[in-house]
Amino acid sequence: MLSRGVSFGKGAGTRTITIFARLQQNDRVPKANIILGIGGSIAAAKTPRLVRLLRKEGAVVQPVLTRSGKEFVTATTLSALSGRPVRDELWDMEAEHAMNHIELARWADLLVVAPASANVLGSLANGLANDLLSCIYLATAAPVLVAPAMNQGMWNHPATQRNVATLRADGVQIVGPATGEQACGDFGPGRMLEPEDLAEAALQFMADNRRRLDGLRILVTAGPTREALDPVRYISNASSGRQGFAVAQAACEAGAHVTLVSGPVELETPSGVERVDVVSASDMSSVVMERVAECDMVFAVAAVADHRPERRFESKIKRQRSSIQRVQLVENEDIIGNVGSLRPRPFLVGFAAETEDILANAREKRLRKNLDAIVVNDVSDQGLGFDSAENEVTLIHSDGEELFERASKLEIARKIVNRVSDIYHSAAASRLESLVS
Ligand SMILES: Cc1cc2nc3c(=O)[nH]c(=O)nc-3n(C[C@H](O)[C@H](O)[C@H](O)COP(=O)(O)O)c2cc1C
Repeated sequence: MLSRGVSFGKGAGTRTITIFARLQQNDRVPKANIILGIGGSIAAAKTPRLVRLLRKEGAVVQPVLTRSGKEFVTATTLSALSGRPVRDELWDMEAEHAMNHIELARWADLLVVAPASANVLGSLANGLANDLLSCIYLATAAPVLVAPAMNQGMWNHPATQRNVATLRADGVQIVGPATGEQACGDFGPGRMLEPEDLAEAALQFMADNRRRLDGLRILVTAGPTREALDPVRYISNASSGRQGFAVAQAACEAGAHVTLVSGPVELETPSGVERVDVVSASDMSSVVMERVAECDMVFAVAAVADHRPERRFESKIKRQRSSIQRVQLVENEDIIGNVGSLRPRPFLVGFAAETEDILANAREKRLRKNLDAIVVNDVSDQGLGFDSAENEVTLIHSDGEELFERASKLEIARKIVNRVSDIYHSAAASRLESLVS
């Protein structure tokens, strides 16, 4: 069955009671610390109700008001409903002494920005750090949910749309806005979602991002490999490593101890991740095989070269040298195949970039290489997959196939990690059952 990921941002007034009910039964996140950032929009008047709803679900809510947010809702109301002193100033030394803005950012399990004015969107998207909310946004490792609210003209402006696209690419979940009548009398998109929808979205988002992989050791391979012809030339591919790095980040956010084995890429190591740099497929294979016995799970995201030149010349090959007219290639180690044939082996997730018969090839590869799951993407589509900021993938496992629609690589990685952890935990539960019975 092909199912799609949960998405928010439906029209005004929609309620998905079933999700709420499911969260209450299974996925409730106890004592979650939520920072609620409130910007300068008339929709700020709805935030007292949001605070109440989140608290009713067991969350601890810390309101943070921007300078303009204070014009629309009082700190007294928010403080009475949240049971906590409202934070509204970066330069409040008394509050900073009690818990400074970096500690506050670390304290949060989730940052919700609702309403996010056009100004707040602009400052978050551009990495400004000129007030308490923007500093917390930059400093926090928690997932971020943003609910825009503004006049339809402001929302439709290309500058706002650029900021929203940047935030999405940075892994922020944007919910809404809804379309409807606006405070200014206009009709169109820009209304903040209702507090019930926002509370539901926040809880669902937390459930999706909860630390499902606590205590697990996960190895992620990423990037291309380089197969040397001589000291300066090599055979490689266009993999940027971004999808693998995003998977490493998402697994780390979910609580795993992550080792990232990376080919040559120009990327920062995600915070909390241990990185081992390699160059060739053979180097990557040695590191993976050395470490695999300690791992519970492997995500093989790297685009490993299948072949390498049989001979690596010691010095730079000269133009006139006839031996280079023909390069003899030999097969590299099949890293994922070798991990798949280990007994016992870790839970194994492969990645495949295909250009034709995408799903059929991926299904066949999953079985042939003995993988628990495979993530496949169509790299014939320009602008997706290799060397791009976004991806659209299908996750294939023994119980089905799920399409994760076009989104930033970090959003895709979080969805993959979330589903894979479900599959991992249910496989572990069935193994346990079969041992007991
Ligand atoms: C009555 C009134 C209502 C406003 N409503 C909104 C709004 O809904 N969305 C928005 O983006 N800006 C709105 N603004 C403008 C913002 O408050 C203004 O851009 C402010 O600088 C935003 O600051 P912030 O970063 O604290 O949110 C409104 C202004 C006024 C005077």
